[in-house]
This record gives sequence, structure tokens and C-alpha cells, in this order.
Amino acid sequence: MKVDLYERIWMFGVAGMLVLFFASLANGAVNEGRHPPSHVETIDPSSVMKDPRFRVQGVRVDAEGQVHAWVVGLMFTWLPAELTLPADTPVTFHLTAIDVIHGYQIVRTNGQTMVMPGYVSQFTTQFDAGEYLVACNEYCGLGHHNMASKITVVPRDQWQVPGTEPETPHDSH
Ligand code: CUA
Repeated sequence: MKVDLYERIWMFGVAGMLVLFFASLANGAVNEGRHPPSHVETIDPSSVMKDPRFRVQGVRVDAEGQVHAWVVGLMFTWLPAELTLPADTPVTFHLTAIDVIHGYQIVRTNGQTMVMPGYVSQFTTQFDAGEYLVACNEYCGLGHHNMASKITVVPRDQWQVPGTEPETPHDSH
């Protein structure tokens, strides 16, 4: 089959780009451990408030000193409504919803995920000191536009450790 020279150049060009894109995706997934922030961990949406992970919402520090924020979304609020976090410190957010899909967006940061009933969404990020607005960015009902909360980030040495994380909260059902 006769393929025109320019057509052949474009074919190889496109094939090369596809290989590059897939390689980049595979590198991110395998070498850098990137994965979607959802569908990692499941939860019964009808008993979130009794679940050991989310019974007490807010900030906890685990045995390794890693900071975690546990947040529940429901029409039309985030629990807790305010978080105080240390600056320049990785914080792992764990989020779930008890009714419908919400979207947790820490405005003007890279912290954002869908929050779905039945799943625990998770991401890790860090902040400069300051105040941040958290908006819901998935339409969830009539009060959607009012579903907001606040994150206050204070310099690390002014931050109070809110107590230690209960040991293996996943097993103590
Ligand atoms: Cu919650 Cu929109």
C-alpha cells in the first residue's frame, strides 16, 4: 500500500505521542504512586457517624506524626466547619459523604476531590499560612451554594497538636 510521505510522518508522529503519553501515565501510576483520590477505601454511608474513622471529625496526628483531617460532607455543610492546620506540613485529608455526591475544593490550592457516599476519598497536600475557603463544587441540592467551610493554616510552631490518633481505627467495629 502506498502511503504518502507526509501522511507517514504524521502517523509516526501520532504513534510517538501516544507512546509518550502512556509512558508518562504509567510512570506517574507506578513510580510516583499517583491514583485517583476515590474508590480506595469504602464505608457504609448509613453509619458514617458511628464509624470509628469518622465518629469524631477533625484533625488528628498518627503515631508517625503525620497530620490527618477527617471530614464528612452532607447537605449542606462540612463537618467540622473549621479546621486549623500547620503550615508547610503534609496533611492527609479523608473525606466521605452521607447523602449525595459533594465536591471538596480548597480554593486556590491543589486540594480537591469528589466526595461520594460509600467511599473515603483521600489526598495529601500542604499549605502556606493563611485562611482558605472550602467550597462544594458538585451540585448537591438547593443549599449547594451555601456549603462552605474554612481552613485556618498557622505557622507550624504555633499549631497545637490535637491529640493522638486512636490505634488502628479501621478494625475496631
Ligand atoms: Cu455539597 Cu454542593
